[in-house]
Amino acid sequence: MNILILGDVAGPAGVKAVREKLPSIIKEKKIDFVIINGENAADTGRGITKKIFDDFLKAGVDVITTGNHVWDHKDAEDIASKNINFLRPSNMLKDSPGKGEGIFIKNGKKFIVLNLMGNVFMKKCDDVFVEAKKFIERFKLGDGQADFIIVDMHAETTSEKMAMGHLFDGKATMVVGTHTHVPTSDHRIMEKGTAYQTDIGMCGDYNSVIGMNKENSLKKFLRDSSAENHHPALGEATISGLLVLADDNTGLAKKVQPIILGGSLQERV
Ligand code: FE2
Repeated sequence: MNILILGDVAGPAGVKAVREKLPSIIKEKKIDFVIINGENAADTGRGITKKIFDDFLKAGVDVITTGNHVWDHKDAEDIASKNINFLRPSNMLKDSPGKGEGIFIKNGKKFIVLNLMGNVFMKKCDDVFVEAKKFIERFKLGDGQADFIIVDMHAETTSEKMAMGHLFDGKATMVVGTHTHVPTSDHRIMEKGTAYQTDIGMCGDYNSVIGMNKENSLKKFLRDSSAENHHPALGEATISGLLVLADDNTGLAKKVQPIILGGSLQERV
């Protein structure tokens, strides 16, 4: 199975790139299952709207994950309560709407997607490692419950993400980090067969400050009183993510390949 996960879609530039490029990537790379982090996709760069959620599905996305900005647009609670393929972090506080994991059947195979959120420098949420251990006790690759397990670890620190990768090594098809909007170059298959990358980057305009207008972000850092609220950069976006070829029998990774396409980043396809 070819499984593609794309990093945080940042504002209108990212949404446009996903809409225009994802269908041909799916076709060319023969991708079976697509996950995308959509928590920064709205016009403001925070949250997601129903229209964008529908656009992602039309472009071929199977599951949309999120993170700390999940509820920043008013549409999100309604999307989460009505759509099992829209996930918010599983370790969010207990009265949160929606779900943090889901089982999805496609081409006769069972894909489980788990969305987690780190504890360091993030919104208050339950202990992410306790949550992950509970998940591991419930779901095992190849026991009939799951053919493939995909983990989106939405977190700020590289250490939390790397530790999560090791916790799941041999127990998940892939563990990738999202949230920092900068792709790391440590994509690999870990010792026991789990594909891993500390951060898969963003689908957005990199001529920016993590997807936001660079002039305005600089003004904010320089304490210039004319600075406005952050707003997304609108230049050509780069699509950024990780493609994993997974073994149909074991559910573990056989090959990992970063996909970086368009915009100002050096392409890797
Ligand atoms: Fe985030």
